[in-house]
Amino acid sequence: MHKITMTREEQVRLVKERLGQAQKVVVLTGAGISAESGIPTFRGADGIWEHYRATDLATPEAFERDPELVWAFYNWRRELISRVKENPAHQALVTLEKIVPDFTLVTQNVDGLHQRAGSINIIEVHGNLWRVQCTECARITMDMSVDMGKRPHCRECGGVLRPDVVWFGESLDGLLLSRAEEAARTCDTMLVIGTSGIVYPVAFLPALAKDGGAFVAEINMEETPVSPGLDLTILGKAGEIMPLLVP
Ligand code: OAD
Repeated sequence: MHKITMTREEQVRLVKERLGQAQKVVVLTGAGISAESGIPTFRGADGIWEHYRATDLATPEAFERDPELVWAFYNWRRELISRVKENPAHQALVTLEKIVPDFTLVTQNVDGLHQRAGSINIIEVHGNLWRVQCTECARITMDMSVDMGKRPHCRECGGVLRPDVVWFGESLDGLLLSRAEEAARTCDTMLVIGTSGIVYPVAFLPALAKDGGAFVAEINMEETPVSPGLDLTILGKAGEIMPLLVP
C-alpha cells in the first residue's frame, strides 16, 4: 500500500472503494469515536486518566476499598452520557451496517452510544455502564437511572451492585472475546476508529485482521502503536472522516 505518498483525498477514496466491495467488515471503536459527542477520552491532554488514577476508580480493589467513590465516578459518567448525543461517526456506522452483507462492531466503549445511534450487531468487549451486576448473586440487569445513588443494592438478594464493566486486572468475557477474534480473523475489511491501541487483548484485533489478509484502515487524530502494521491511517476527527467514507 502507498502509505506515505497518499493524500487525504486518495486515502478516503481508497477506503470508500474497499468498503463498497467488502463482504465482511469489522469495525473496532474506542473512546475517540465518542469524543465529539462530548465524552472525554481516557488518555491524551484532557483524558480521564490524566485527572484521576485508574487504580482509584476502575479496579476491583478500588471498588472493595471505596464503593461510594467508584459509584460517584460512574454516576458522573452516567449523567454526562445521558445528556450527550451520538455524532456523525456513530451514525455512519449505522449506515455501513445496512450496506455491508456481514458487519460486526466491536467496541471498547461502555457508553451505549452505538446502540442509541441504531447499530445492531455490537460486541461490547469492556461491558456497558448502563448495566449493573450484583456482587452476591451475579444477576445482571439494565438500569438507565442517571444517578444510582451512593451504594446501590440488588433488588433480588440485597447484595452490593457494581457497574457491569471490565476493570483493570479483570478478564474480558471469554465468549465475547472469541467472537471478536473470530470476526477479526475472517473479515476482509477492518476500520479501527478512535482507539489508542494500547489496551490488550483488544489491541491485538487489528493484527489478527491483517494476518487473515484483511485491508485495515485506521481513523484517528494521531498515529498509534498499531498504525505501522496497518494499510493506512487517516488522520482526523472520526465525526468528520466517517461521513466521507460512508455517505
Ligand atoms: P483512549 O482514551 O486510550 O484513546 C482514545 C483515542 O482516540 C486516542 O488514540 C485519540 O488520539 C483518539 N481520538 C480522540 N479524539 C478523536 C476523534 N474526535 N476522532 C478520532 N480519534 C480520536 O481510549 P481507548 O483506546 O478506547 O478500558 O481506551 C481503551 C480502554 O482503556 C478503554 O476501553 C478503557 C480505558 O481505560 C477500561 O476501562 C477497561
